[in-house]
Amino acid sequence: MAEVKLIGVWKQFGNFTAVKDMNLEIKHGEFMILLGPSGCGKTTTLRMIAGLEEPTKGQIYIGDKLVADPEKGILAPPKDRDIAMVFQSYALYPHMTVYDNIAFPLKLRKVPKQEIDRHVREVAEMLGLTELLKRKPRELSGGQRQRVALGRAIVRKPQVFLMDEPLSNLDAKLRVKMRAELKRLQRQLGVTTIYVTHDQVEAMTMGDRIAVINQGVLQQIGTPDEVYDRPANTFVGSFIGSPPMNFIDASIVEDERGVWADFGEFRLKLLDDQGEVLREKNLIGKEAIFGIRPEDIYDAMFAQIKIPGENMTRAMVEIIENLGSEKIVHLRVGDITFLGAFRSESKVKEGQEVDVVFDMRKAHVFDKGSGKAVF
Ligand SMILES: Nc1ncnc2c1ncn2[C@@H]1O[C@H](COP(=O)(O)OP(=O)(O)OP(=O)(O)O)[C@@H](O)[C@H]1O
Ligand SMILES: [Mg+2]
Repeated sequence: MAEVKLIGVWKQFGNFTAVKDMNLEIKHGEFMILLGPSGCGKTTTLRMIAGLEEPTKGQIYIGDKLVADPEKGILAPPKDRDIAMVFQSYALYPHMTVYDNIAFPLKLRKVPKQEIDRHVREVAEMLGLTELLKRKPRELSGGQRQRVALGRAIVRKPQVFLMDEPLSNLDAKLRVKMRAELKRLQRQLGVTTIYVTHDQVEAMTMGDRIAVINQGVLQQIGTPDEVYDRPANTFVGSFIGSPPMNFIDASIVEDERGVWADFGEFRLKLLDDQGEVLREKNLIGKEAIFGIRPEDIYDAMFAQIKIPGENMTRAMVEIIENLGSEKIVHLRVGDITFLGAFRSESKVKEGQEVDVVFDMRKAHVFDKGSGKAVF
């Protein structure tokens, strides 16, 4: 086990900056997710931690050891970093049995045969591969192959696991199963893990903490609840959550009744403490972005918190996506469109109007220019 630290790490490919001033501290035994869209610099960051890529600037520590610092000319090779990597394309040796595939890293290290046997069987047991040890990779399902690749990484008992989208080759159902298995395994082993994905569901369900990255820049780092409930900016708000958070352009106005988000077609009254924050930040009379998640908008029939004229409006139902467990309802008020996630009992019909209620406790306001969250 070890902690991993990145201090002011940059990666430049020619003129292109793939990673900008990355600061990350991953704790002992933590399951850290690097999450972001394609090309945001996740793999590059992981490769720098692994020692497969040299940072242009900054320091990387694994445990107490400084493994990369270009200014001091320090660059420890991968084999000296005590890490194990699992990649999206987990090439197993096709001519070797499952047993030999898992044993391979130990053989390379010239571990005594008996000890290899003990380790391989222990890992196989943990991964449910005991019955399959004599098979060749082609005789395995995708999920079983994935577990062999994991076994090969685990058997070395490294200080740190680095995983780059290891589940992306699996079908949806298997992915869900492996997600839970991987998480359980990581808990059991207690090995510090850095896991790269662009799948926000994977990030939310597996991570102790999530580092959200966009265009090489760390946007926010926090527990799944923190990044979901208190996104630092509109990017995080829209990237995490499906369907994404609604954003509506608003004017922040104040009258004798309180502070409001005014959309022209309708307005919503902000809670007293929210109004206070907006007043303190001098945002009264300014343009802003109002944000609310679809699940925080209710069919008024099922809302216990409706206050007509304050948190409610009438909206046109344009399209309903019925997911069985809930209904994603495309709503329109004049030119303003947004999504509501209604419970399945809702009787809304396409082409009809419905009263919708906004849970203002869950409302967010973002700065119009920077996209940064006010709350
Ligand atoms: N060796 C390289 N030379 C030049 N540019 C590179 C190199 N490696 C990566 N890049 C660029 O750096 C950026 C980040 O790449 P990276 O592979 O880290 O993205 P990623 O977040 O892992 O994306 P994905 O989800 O698609 O795997 C991309 O724009 C990519 O084109
Ligand atoms: Mg990648």
